[in-house]
Amino acid sequence: MKKYIVIGNPIDHSLSPKLHNYWLKKNNIYAEYDKSLIQKSDLSNIIKSIKNKDVEGANVTVPFKSEIINYLDELSPEANNTKSVNTLLNENGKVIGHNTDIAGFELAIRHTKYDLSNKKILILGAGGVVSSVICALNKSRVKKITVMNRTFSKAETLKELFQNIEIIKWGSAVPFDMIINATSLGLNEKDQINLNFENIGENKFFYDIIYNPRQTNFLKNAKKNFHKTENGKMMFIYQAHQAFTIWHKIMPKINKEVIDLI
Ligand code: ATR
Repeated sequence: MKKYIVIGNPIDHSLSPKLHNYWLKKNNIYAEYDKSLIQKSDLSNIIKSIKNKDVEGANVTVPFKSEIINYLDELSPEANNTKSVNTLLNENGKVIGHNTDIAGFELAIRHTKYDLSNKKILILGAGGVVSSVICALNKSRVKKITVMNRTFSKAETLKELFQNIEIIKWGSAVPFDMIINATSLGLNEKDQINLNFENIGENKFFYDIIYNPRQTNFLKNAKKNFHKTENGKMMFIYQAHQAFTIWHKIMPKINKEVIDLI
């Protein structure tokens, strides 16, 4: 039986096995998809197991999306532009890194019907997924992208990759239309983001990359204040959809059953 995995640390929250195994079954593909809690020191062995086809393909999640690049033979153009990889595939003996987060984010925003044109976007965090979010936003006609991260140097590194973004110190006040939580704050249900949203105005769009738990405090508080909110569920489904298509050359269905599964 062919084997696929998602690697990360932590990994408990990942619903990738649930979704991929559902699609595998629906499409009569004899394979299984597992999650694997790994350390950085395991990365090289994982690449070896993909090379020798013990593992057919893998998804990569926090905190290895950029670290993994050091072990790969080639990158897709999207992975190279963002220096971020979330999908691995053995192509003719070479391990190739793909990025399906960009399309995942793009399609998820389209799904919300939110018009990004001329909007000011504030991104919280500068971790593994943020370059993909910026890359997707750069394709739509947003007015401005600001990145705010607790560790400023990581925002500076992003600025080297995307000169058009503005970077600011954690806790600074900046006007925005849409705010994206791309930090890991919220993965634990009790997490709070220590920022003051009192004077931000009305009708903002609060988007959380986190999809499990479904409603972080970031979204709960925004909802209380009548802002538009959305979690990362559709982004998760769309990035998985792209990964599935890369591996199996079949486009699985995204329907109500799939959406309700997550
Ligand atoms: P990595 O940074 O290793 O790529 P990640 O999970 O993709 O891992 O990113 C975690 C993000 O959440 C980072 O932007 C991190 O900020 P730092 O760069 O300062 O670490 C952010 N984050 C995590 N805990 C945080 C906290 N308590 N307050 C603010 N930001 C936090």
